[in-house]
Amino acid sequence: MSNNVLVTGAAGFIGANFAEYFVAKHPDYKVVVLDKLTYAGNLENLKNIKDKIEFVQGDICDFDLVTDLFKKYDINGVIHFAAESHVDNSIKTPFIFTQTNVMGTHVLLEAARRAWGEGSTNKFVHISTDEVYGSLGEEGYFTETSPIKPSSPYSASKASSDLVAFAYKETYKMNVNVTNCSNNYGPYQHNEKLIPHMIKLALKDQKLPVYGTGKNIRDWLYVEDHCEAIDLVFHKGVAGERYNIGGHNEKRNIDIVKLILKRLEKPESLIEYVEDRKGHDYRYAIDPTKIRNELGWSPKTKFEDGIVKTIDWYLAHPEYLQ
Ligand SMILES: NC(=O)c1ccc[n+]([C@@H]2O[C@H](COP(=O)([O-])OP(=O)(O)OC[C@H]3O[C@@H](n4cnc5c(N)ncnc54)[C@H](O)[C@@H]3O)[C@@H](O)[C@H]2O)c1
Repeated sequence: MSNNVLVTGAAGFIGANFAEYFVAKHPDYKVVVLDKLTYAGNLENLKNIKDKIEFVQGDICDFDLVTDLFKKYDINGVIHFAAESHVDNSIKTPFIFTQTNVMGTHVLLEAARRAWGEGSTNKFVHISTDEVYGSLGEEGYFTETSPIKPSSPYSASKASSDLVAFAYKETYKMNVNVTNCSNNYGPYQHNEKLIPHMIKLALKDQKLPVYGTGKNIRDWLYVEDHCEAIDLVFHKGVAGERYNIGGHNEKRNIDIVKLILKRLEKPESLIEYVEDRKGHDYRYAIDPTKIRNELGWSPKTKFEDGIVKTIDWYLAHPEYLQ
């Protein structure tokens, strides 16, 4: 049987890292990338593998286009990254988040159902976030059975799209998985996000704005470890299961910023505390026991190594800081 995989959103940060990882690991697969190339998409992210993939520029909300792609390439697997992904944007312009993240996911699921039929074993992996669980206090971790309690229009749209995916498993017996991952870092990330944003400002000796007290905690995972987990879920995930992905690497935002300044040999006086983000979740932390026990995944990159590798990558690729 042929292996023709549709990867959505692969001109973005995680999708691009994943596409590179996947074509190297599985040269026998045909990879079709569907990406709208919004402000967050960058074809340069795919330049190392441009001869090994089929790139289609288009919108996941376009049902006719997506339906045609399933037919044209005989798609029998989907790994779905495409999304509006920036929380701050979702506070300013929320409708596009519901449109892309909920409707776009629904379009892909429905096109897959019609192409594959009910009860198909073809895999559909929907990539989601730990933010669907809302905020933790000082204690505890998100497990796959934690209540869904999103705080931002972004996380609400991701939580909603997760539910549509699970509904397609229950109603149409589709082979769906949802993965909920913590904050990723690594190459190819858009400079609106914390780490490249802070590197960019520090290099220009500009003020580094830190929300609130800077004490909010995120669980950081090197993007390649995320890619490996998704590959495992794609090949071995049990139909209908949710898998949390995270590395027990909790860091306060302020400590990440200080680490960047130290590596760049810039003074901490560049830090400027600014008014907190609306609805700012205090802490995210993933319990990855399920994916470790059931699929044998654990992260390989220590934060101390990954962050240095990441900072050095942006220094070597200043165009990503423009
Ligand atoms: N970045 C993180 O730390 C993180 C953590 C957990 C989960 N996630 C999830 O992983 C996925 C990828 O995140 P990312 O950080 O790589 O995002 P990103 O913003 O870097 O990339 C998103 C990509 O999707 C494309 N896209 C947007 N709207 C589209 C549409 N309507 N049709 C087709 N393509 C469209 C963009 O052009 C871009 O290439 C998202 O679903 C996000 O929710 C991200």
